[in-house]
Amino acid sequence: MTEANKGYFTEENSADVVISRIAETTDPRLAEVVGAITRHLHAAVKEIEPTQEEWLAAIKFLTETGHKSDDWRQECILLSDILGVSMLVDAINNRKPSGASESTVLGPFHVPDVPELPMGSNICLDGKGHPMQIKGRILNTEGQPLSNVKIDVWQTNDDGFYDVQQKGIQPDFNLRGVFRTGDDGTYMFWGAKPRFYPIPDDGPVGKLLGSLGRHPYRPAHLHYILEAEGYETLITHIFDPDDEYIHSDAVFGVKESLLAKFDLIEDPDRIAKEHPEGPFYEVEHDFVLAPAS
Ligand code: BEZ
Ligand code: FE
Repeated sequence: MTEANKGYFTEENSADVVISRIAETTDPRLAEVVGAITRHLHAAVKEIEPTQEEWLAAIKFLTETGHKSDDWRQECILLSDILGVSMLVDAINNRKPSGASESTVLGPFHVPDVPELPMGSNICLDGKGHPMQIKGRILNTEGQPLSNVKIDVWQTNDDGFYDVQQKGIQPDFNLRGVFRTGDDGTYMFWGAKPRFYPIPDDGPVGKLLGSLGRHPYRPAHLHYILEAEGYETLITHIFDPDDEYIHSDAVFGVKESLLAKFDLIEDPDRIAKEHPEGPFYEVEHDFVLAPAS
């Protein structure tokens, strides 16, 4: 028995006594994780000195967060998102070599097995919003184009909702698509200029944001997952730098390198050739994949 293990629980030695009960046969990683959480949690409680009522309010908040979660709605992940923990875990697990594109949060609205489309397709099936041409290259860190890269993209419609949030209102697979690069490593498709939108804020996490004087909005963005054999999978976004929430993303997902340029094309020659229906936005953004480690 260690000294702490033999001791009675006191305010001073609280964390040591709890940690000393972890059996030596415990999986070392689990012991490390529970030990660190115990130490930091006890330190926080000692700093806060909650009243019994405050402690119960915290338990009630966590209980509501659990009750709000199901297979589709993940309120616990939202809590992690608004506290910056999701982005911190992402940063720790995606340290990229110099020159490689940066990652950001996946978010809850990715759909697996979206149909693959020919390059140049229009993923905007509801016809809402400003038409936007999205294009660029997928490169390796030596600047060479990468072929056979699977490009999985998704975005909200002009009302600020993903198709899966409005089943029966938006067409299935609206503003989603999978594309595959050819030998030149380029990609191009059409969508709609994205807009800012709120993260789901009708639960305890939304209430907490309100109590903290924080808004629930994410600046306008487009999601990407890029997958290629021999390279690290890249989960990322591009953002509209002119969005009013670009400096206050509710989930801290914005990085300077992910700001794209959204240009309004009004040149009659280009309109005639590329989009006879009228002016359109153009976004050009290259991605650089890191080699698999
Ligand atoms: C999203 O960008 O889709 C998202 C990310 C985090 C929380 C909610 C939504
Ligand atoms: Fe999103």
